[in-house]
Amino acid sequence: MERVHLSGEVRHVKEHSSRQLSQDAVKELIQQSQEAKKQAYCPYSKFRVGAALLAHDNCVFTGCNVENVCYNLGACAERNAISKAVSEGYRSFKAIAIASDMNDQFISPCGGCRQFMREFGPNLTVYLSKPDGSYLKMTVNELLPSSFGPEDLSMKKVIDIPNEC
Ligand code: THU
Repeated sequence: MERVHLSGEVRHVKEHSSRQLSQDAVKELIQQSQEAKKQAYCPYSKFRVGAALLAHDNCVFTGCNVENVCYNLGACAERNAISKAVSEGYRSFKAIAIASDMNDQFISPCGGCRQFMREFGPNLTVYLSKPDGSYLKMTVNELLPSSFGPEDLSMKKVIDIPNEC
């Protein structure tokens, strides 16, 4: 496994197995989330978060939390990583690693981020990490059971609301 710097911020994890990530690949992804955490802009919460999202072709998109003086405008690390990837044309992902500075607890994604991840992959693997590199492996389905997803919009309904012309 090796890390290759491609254009700009995009990194690439060489991974041979397509089903299960190797220990080295997980370690690398977590390291990249820890690197991303260093860019966190969090003057209000002072709570740094980093995320590294592994796409189907082993490209990695990272993100950090970006806060705002208008507090409710802040954006989470996971959402920023996913938005970066989607805006580059990616929609299929294998895993996401999340890092924070909490020593005694694995970082747990907020409810909004769970729903945001669910949009692109109920089966996505989520690595909740600690600064020492230890992690908890979960899936989006486990983090957000009985979730509301894109398929639900096309389910049969009691009434059909016509489009307005
Ligand atoms: N935060 C994230 O970036 N991801 C999460 O899943 C949990 C919370 C950020 C948002 C805010 O900038 C700071 O952590 C404190 O809530």
